[in-house]
Amino acid sequence: MNQPATDTQTILREISKPPGSCSSLPDSISIIRIDHLSKIFKEKNRIVTAVDDVTFEVKRGEIFGLLGPNGAGKSTLIRVLTTLLRPTAGTACVDTFDIVRDPEKIRSIIGVCPQNSTLDVELTAYDNLEFYGKLVNVDDSILDTRIWELLAMTELTDRAYMKVQTFSGGMRRKLEIVRAFIHHPLILFLDEPTIGLDPEARHEVWQQISKLNEEKTTIILTTHYMDEAEKLCNRIAFVDKGKLIALDILENLKQLIPAGDLIEIGFDSIDEKMLPVLRENTLINSVDVKDHKLIISAKNGSKLLPEIVAVFEKFSTPMTSISIRSPSLEDVFIHLTGKKLDEGGHQETKPSRGGRPS
Ligand SMILES: Nc1ncnc2c1ncn2[C@@H]1O[C@H](COP(=O)(O)OP(=O)(O)OP(=O)(O)O)[C@@H](O)[C@H]1O
Ligand SMILES: [Mg+2]
Repeated sequence: MNQPATDTQTILREISKPPGSCSSLPDSISIIRIDHLSKIFKEKNRIVTAVDDVTFEVKRGEIFGLLGPNGAGKSTLIRVLTTLLRPTAGTACVDTFDIVRDPEKIRSIIGVCPQNSTLDVELTAYDNLEFYGKLVNVDDSILDTRIWELLAMTELTDRAYMKVQTFSGGMRRKLEIVRAFIHHPLILFLDEPTIGLDPEARHEVWQQISKLNEEKTTIILTTHYMDEAEKLCNRIAFVDKGKLIALDILENLKQLIPAGDLIEIGFDSIDEKMLPVLRENTLINSVDVKDHKLIISAKNGSKLLPEIVAVFEKFSTPMTSISIRSPSLEDVFIHLTGKKLDEGGHQETKPSRGGRPS
């Protein structure tokens, strides 16, 4: 999204820009602009459309979540944006640079923590950071200070000279995340930052990510954990079979479910005549009975609760439990795709002719 032109010079600059140019980005709200991007893998027996005509923007300073099941194309999209793979079609700008024309420049302003660990477990934490720091050209005069800063951030200072193979999964992941941050990148890409971690370690990694974002870094993370996306992300993009199927802030995504909140009321026995009385209420979308539970879906469930309780009292039916749940991201995903997030699925087709790997 470009800022509105404010003066003649700006208008002229905009008009003279070649189509698809990335030059207007530095002052704009967007730090990444993706335009009809596709990545197709062609192999002997199959063609996989891993990223399928995707268009969206990432705003400066936000934590942006790419949420989707296994094989949705999240890592492929990250690999294209971080210039590890060339797109098959479409364009993308990362800050002021084009992913195909300026890969070197992009690499200097981004940090990447890939899905599969690339730490050298035979090396110490300090050596891993030092090695990477030299690789991304951190000045020798500041490298040592920066390494100790990052170790302090992850509370790994006292383990600086211990081999990474002695670290827990959470410690390794935190180390790998801050390693990607060693050169103060403008944008940090985290691919499944908490995969395989226990709940406590996941919370620590979340804190780490929030801390890095406080330093004004834009963070793009992929995950198939809904709670992670809910907890961390300003905006969330749902991807499925390579396609972008929804993108918004959490509250707006939840509004996509017409049914609204889910109210569950437990009972030992129920008077069937209650059901039509409840269904008469225009604010209630549906009423179902399942396993000694009345399941009511309605917008604004908490406001409606007193009316529902009154109906139970009228029919002298005691309640054994009450719960109200607003729709989760999982519910939204099911509503949009008809399947659960852990059901996976990529688009795979037989090639019409023999293809070559790309
Ligand atoms: N180098 C490659 N060659 C061929 N196919 C590939 C390659 N990389 C990815 N794919 C395919 O592209 C599709 C998307 O894979 P990708 O790794 O991007 O998914 P993902 O959303 O990151 O999944 P996960 O949650 O499991 O990490 C899959 O079908 C995968 O098999
Ligand atoms: Mg992946």
